[in-house]
Amino acid sequence: MKQLRLKSLPSLREAARRNPNQPVSYRTLDLSPNAFLSSWGEGKRFCIRTYGCQANVRDSEILRSFLLAMNMKETDSFSDADFILFNTCAIRENAENHLYGELGQAKDRYNKKSDVIIAICGCVMQEEVPVKYVLDHFPFVSLIFGTNNITAFYSLLEDCLKNEERLVDVQANSDLVYEGIKDFTGSRQSKVSAFVNIMYGCNKFCTYCIVPYTRGRERSRKEEDIISEVNCLKEQGYKQVTLLGQNVDAYGKDFFDTYAFAHLLEKVAQTGIERIRFTTPYPSDFNPVVFDVMAKYPNVMPALHLPVQSGSNNILKKMNRRYTREEYISLVNELRKRLPNVFLTTDIIVGFPNETDEDFEETLSLVKEIKYDAAFTFIFSPRPGTPAYRMKDETPMDVKHQRFERLKTLIDELSTESAKKFVGNTYKVLFETVSKKDNNRISGYTPEGKLIHVTGDKGLIGQIKTVKVLESHTYSLIGEIIDD
Ligand code: SAH
Ligand code: SF4
Ligand code: F3S
Repeated sequence: MKQLRLKSLPSLREAARRNPNQPVSYRTLDLSPNAFLSSWGEGKRFCIRTYGCQANVRDSEILRSFLLAMNMKETDSFSDADFILFNTCAIRENAENHLYGELGQAKDRYNKKSDVIIAICGCVMQEEVPVKYVLDHFPFVSLIFGTNNITAFYSLLEDCLKNEERLVDVQANSDLVYEGIKDFTGSRQSKVSAFVNIMYGCNKFCTYCIVPYTRGRERSRKEEDIISEVNCLKEQGYKQVTLLGQNVDAYGKDFFDTYAFAHLLEKVAQTGIERIRFTTPYPSDFNPVVFDVMAKYPNVMPALHLPVQSGSNNILKKMNRRYTREEYISLVNELRKRLPNVFLTTDIIVGFPNETDEDFEETLSLVKEIKYDAAFTFIFSPRPGTPAYRMKDETPMDVKHQRFERLKTLIDELSTESAKKFVGNTYKVLFETVSKKDNNRISGYTPEGKLIHVTGDKGLIGQIKTVKVLESHTYSLIGEIIDD
């Protein structure tokens, strides 16, 4: 068996420790592969499996850029891959379990081709226990690196190849913001809509959440770097950017500027790119000045994903969410004053430790009062290392499931009602995908972010057309194009 080398190991405790006010280091990296890596990569194939949120999708795009620059080609299947990478998510237990199932399949490839390189990165690899588990149970995994080590990818791969060893390098934290990533043609998931990181990490430490441990402390990219990326995407023909951060409204707080996110959004709007979205804002940091920018610029889409998590002040407090139900509602009122037709969505966790029937009823009543257009709902999943993991929990699992179903039914009713309001109206739709089953069926999104399917030629992908909505379902609309 290959020898194991631990350059650095993950530590949840250390991850929580870095001082939020520590200055950020900005670095421009030279990310061209050297002759060794280019010649190893020549003609070889890679396969990347990505789980989790947009942050992981963007990280996988960056890693794809590195591999394409090494003259490699991408494949969807393990069966002809020379390099397999799993980019993992730790947000809930079932996200983590996916990995172990897929590793079993990757083993078949290893059994046929023992020089295949199998690598794992992403949030699960920032945790001590899963890394030890992988090392013990999956001896064919030869490279493990963390979310803070992506820019070291070339040197890690080179080490791993040259020394024929199993290499683990996971830094608990980082103060680094890197620039100079070159996007290779085809490295982004879509040719129409692009993710743009504006900040990394999270300082909020909601008691249920693993992200502050896996992604480190908040650090923001500089405004000029973000704007130049957006301009570059615009020149390449991208129609939409989604600005990414775990709590985007904390953007620039490390520059000690409360209005930084509103300023940034305005600057991005002024680039003239057709459509701008952002995710995710945190309610108590959210400055209503952002709503003014949204109202002023038609290229900032009238949609907001504003996670509430619970309608009960008791639970919000235990979650360390830093707002009350009343403050959240008043923020939504402010928003709707400025943007009456905003499409409002949220995230809700059901079954937080010792959530009572009364707490849950308050969540239902908040959802009814706000009348969300859609919502993601989750059953609380205890994440080792987080404070909520250690909280005593007397609520039986079947009670949590019943609550979850009740909430889901309510959200579906509201989504159906919301979708009905679109019928008969016309919307500018940006087309993004072709149906896998029918080449003449294309799909896109209204400015509100509602999915819509129409009959149309795949040549319309990347274009914005006026569409009349004919029919509505809970999660999507059916329409017809009325301009040519
Ligand atoms: N930074 C964003 C999103 C974080 S993860 C935010 O603060 O809103 C996306 C969603 O996953 C969260 O909004 C939350 O609803 C859910 N989530 C996070 N940790 C969870 C856990 N341990 N169990 C269940 N759901 C969780
Ligand atoms: Fe997790 Fe809370 Fe940070 Fe969102 S704000 S990533 S839920 S700790
Ligand atoms: Fe998952 Fe990490 Fe995102 S835990 S949700 S991939 S930040």
